[in-house]
Amino acid sequence: MKRIYNNINLEKRNSFGVKQEARTLVEFDTAEELKSYLEEAKPSKWYVLGAGNNTLFTADYDGVLFAPTASSRTILEDDGESVVVRVEAAHDWDEFVAWSVDNGLWGIENLSAIPSSVGAAPVQNIGAYGAEVKDAITAIDYFDVDKMEVVRIKCEECGFGYRESVFKHELRGVAIILAVEFKLHRTPTPNLGYGDVIKEVEARGGATLKNIREAICAIRASKLPDPKVLGNAGSFFKNPIVPRIVAERLLNEYPSMPCYTVPNRDDVMKLAAGWLIDQSGLKGYREGHVGVHDRQALVLVNHGGATGGEMLHFAEFVCSVVKGKFGVEIAPEVNIL
Ligand code: EPU
Repeated sequence: MKRIYNNINLEKRNSFGVKQEARTLVEFDTAEELKSYLEEAKPSKWYVLGAGNNTLFTADYDGVLFAPTASSRTILEDDGESVVVRVEAAHDWDEFVAWSVDNGLWGIENLSAIPSSVGAAPVQNIGAYGAEVKDAITAIDYFDVDKMEVVRIKCEECGFGYRESVFKHELRGVAIILAVEFKLHRTPTPNLGYGDVIKEVEARGGATLKNIREAICAIRASKLPDPKVLGNAGSFFKNPIVPRIVAERLLNEYPSMPCYTVPNRDDVMKLAAGWLIDQSGLKGYREGHVGVHDRQALVLVNHGGATGGEMLHFAEFVCSVVKGKFGVEIAPEVNIL
């Protein structure tokens, strides 16, 4: 059933916990309900709010927020080795990962404990510990607001990149994701190359799905604040991709600077925004209600009572300090409204 709320407080619907309001919020279960609302109300401004883990409201939202509520999970195919599963948008991401691990299905275990809904996961192509959700996605069903019908898009058409997809660009303001289809495998494919993952997995007795999930959860919990306790949206900034020549100049000056190659690109390198912010002396730094997390400098936190505007102002300050010290622009990863 469709539910419409007017002048609704969003504090519990965004992981920063900022107290902005939305003029209208529409919860819907089905594409038909969404369609009937769109036909009737013809909203000129709208946005999809999933679990609210990657959105910063910098002011009250004067349009319509669409919040999907359908969360079923259906196995479509199982050939013994691989399983194709369709998961509706409102399904909690980590509950889906837990289900895959409990059922011996490989592919998304490194993405354990990421706060997200399934529908939001492809928008920014969530990624962690050497894995990205794009590698498990086969297709996505979305409601196309221009065509007023459900459209199915294959993974190859989603324009996936580092924290990027077509849903942030060409399909922004067009697509409302309804369900995501994944292909997971019974053949083990442990992906332990990132940071401390192998060490933590071995400490738990080796590369089983359960051990990998536990290791990833433990690593995340040791660095990243729990949004239920301290308002945040995980990484606030993307790791910047800079011309190779810029990276080499910085490496000359800072030989210990983390620096990664970018697949299929020789001309650029990826730097660690967390390191840049940390080395700018801002880790744990706080101004009023907003601060840089003291264990992971990529994360900005609401210590309580911050407005979205304050968060944004502080983020701009962090960018300017990093730019001043390293000459590198860092850009937000969160959607700023
Ligand atoms: N670093 C510091 N100080 C810090 C933070 C990081 O020196 O305060 C250094 C680390 O020592 C390391 C490097 O920077 O050498 C990279 O740090 P880390 O491995 O913690 O990962 P990250 O690049 O900071 C990215 C993702 C995270 C993801 C981790 C693990 C982005 C923007 N962030 O962080 O994603 O969990 O890798 O794969 O790509 C998220 O998107 O919300 C998120 C948390």
